[in-house]
Amino acid sequence: KVGEPASEDTKTDQLETVTEGVDGKTLTTQQGLEIADNQNSLKIGERGPTLLEDFMMREKITHFDHERIPERVVHARGAGAHGYFELYDSLGAYTTAAFLCETGVKTPVFVRFSTVAGSRGSADTVRDVRGFATKFYTSQGNFDLVGNNMPVFFIQDAIKFPDFIHAVKPEPHNEIPQAQSAHDTFWDFVSLNTELSHMLMWVMSDRALPRSFAMMEGFGVHTFRLVNAEGISHFVKFHWKPKLGAHSLSWDEAQKIAGKDPDFNRRELWESIEAGQCPEWELGLQIVAEHDADTFEFDLLDPTKIIPEELVPVRRVGRMVLNRNPENYFAETEQVAFCVANVVPGIDFTNDPLMQGRLFSYLDTQLLRLGGPNFAHIPINRPLCPVNNNQRDGFQQQRVFRGRTSYEPNSISRGCPMQSGDASAFRSYPETFTEPKVRKRSARFADHFTQATLFYASQTPVEQKHIIDAIAFELSHVEEERIRERVVRVLANIDRGLAENVAAKVAVTDISDDLNYLKEETTAPLPDDRRGAAA
Ligand code: HEM
Repeated sequence: KVGEPASEDTKTDQLETVTEGVDGKTLTTQQGLEIADNQNSLKIGERGPTLLEDFMMREKITHFDHERIPERVVHARGAGAHGYFELYDSLGAYTTAAFLCETGVKTPVFVRFSTVAGSRGSADTVRDVRGFATKFYTSQGNFDLVGNNMPVFFIQDAIKFPDFIHAVKPEPHNEIPQAQSAHDTFWDFVSLNTELSHMLMWVMSDRALPRSFAMMEGFGVHTFRLVNAEGISHFVKFHWKPKLGAHSLSWDEAQKIAGKDPDFNRRELWESIEAGQCPEWELGLQIVAEHDADTFEFDLLDPTKIIPEELVPVRRVGRMVLNRNPENYFAETEQVAFCVANVVPGIDFTNDPLMQGRLFSYLDTQLLRLGGPNFAHIPINRPLCPVNNNQRDGFQQQRVFRGRTSYEPNSISRGCPMQSGDASAFRSYPETFTEPKVRKRSARFADHFTQATLFYASQTPVEQKHIIDAIAFELSHVEEERIRERVVRVLANIDRGLAENVAAKVAVTDISDDLNYLKEETTAPLPDDRRGAAA
């Protein structure tokens, strides 16, 4: 029933009902016909041509031909595990989300860790952001915390996401290079979009080379809302704090491991769970009263900013343990569909313009990736609470509805699912707006450098050297000199020493912090030489 607490094992039990073992069973076709000979196709004579009539061979090969589904457009390479989340400090004063109110309840979870830029077959230990996506199978529906191992993002508005990802992915003409960021397009984008500066520091730091998934922090990145029973909203940032602490590989280790064992992180996750050494994190929250939001120097809606923990401490409220490997990689880790829009009562969105675009993008891409509108029926995606609605038909429909009607309200079929009207059901937070429609960015998003500087300054000298070496390594692969020069100018706005050290390593002599080139490159009409090239 809705609202009944899920227990730790309920997702395992649900999956059990659809998991089939085939050991020791006789081979059949999809129609259940026993197959006597799986080695030879049907021919005219032993040396004759194979017959079209051979439906067994055709079915087998056709199914094989259709085995692949599109990989995720980003975060294609991943590794997942099951576990539970257990709350020990109730947040009942802030939210009606049951799994954040009822202490001691173990909510089943499925987590998928991923790299962002590489394809499904790429190496684990590349320099990249790591995805950290958690599906909580709560008693009120699935809540997905689709986060990363870094607390900020590259861009402030989702409309820039396709451009950013196109700059990060291999170049379209030759699919080179496959390693993240070591190429002109990424660094061109860096030099033309200074909002990236803070995230650039994280990505060039050791955080981009996690030693183990179990040694990564996780972040929801955006500011979310918690809404309590009185309808009062607080802003919140979600954090995962690893029990083992945050640890990284060195760049040299990461490169060697990528050659020797491209499955390094995924193998370690699998083996540690098999050995009973279960990875564990604490869930932490930074909670801010709405009326305090304007007291910060930055905007809480800007996803390129953190709330420093010195200003708002992280309150740790529960722990997550990953204790079971998937039964089947494709069925679970590949077919799991996380979505920022999957929320439960008591958790709501904010107007962060990056988050708003994500609310659209995940469902949209999954309609393609998972073959139509019924992917919520796939076992790994099914909630544990009841699902009843009037959505019908469509590709891959797995449910058989009884009854004459599938609309609401209706007076013919009394059993038809009806809206509950319950005060406890999800209702969007009734925020009021008074401003006109505009295509603009808030002036409060304009500071692109303060927190980048803060991050660099927070690093030890050894860590700072790693950042310098990382940027110098990357820029040494950039062919266009003007891009290297512009990146040094961006760095000079973050930290003069950083810029000087990088410049010395990549033969840039002009260490200016003048960003006026941005006006020419981003707002001026296309120069003739490029117009010609485009034609
Ligand atoms: C996938 C995180 C921004 C579009 C993912 C995944 C994670 C993630 C963890 C992998 C989910 C999985 O394991 O299946 C984030 C974070 C972001 C961000 C933390 C910023 C704070 C965006 C934006 C867009 C976007 C702005 C688009 C406007 C996608 C898409 C996928 C994806 C299309 C593939 C989903 C699928 O095929 O199932 N993201 N992302 N992301 N993300 Fe994001």
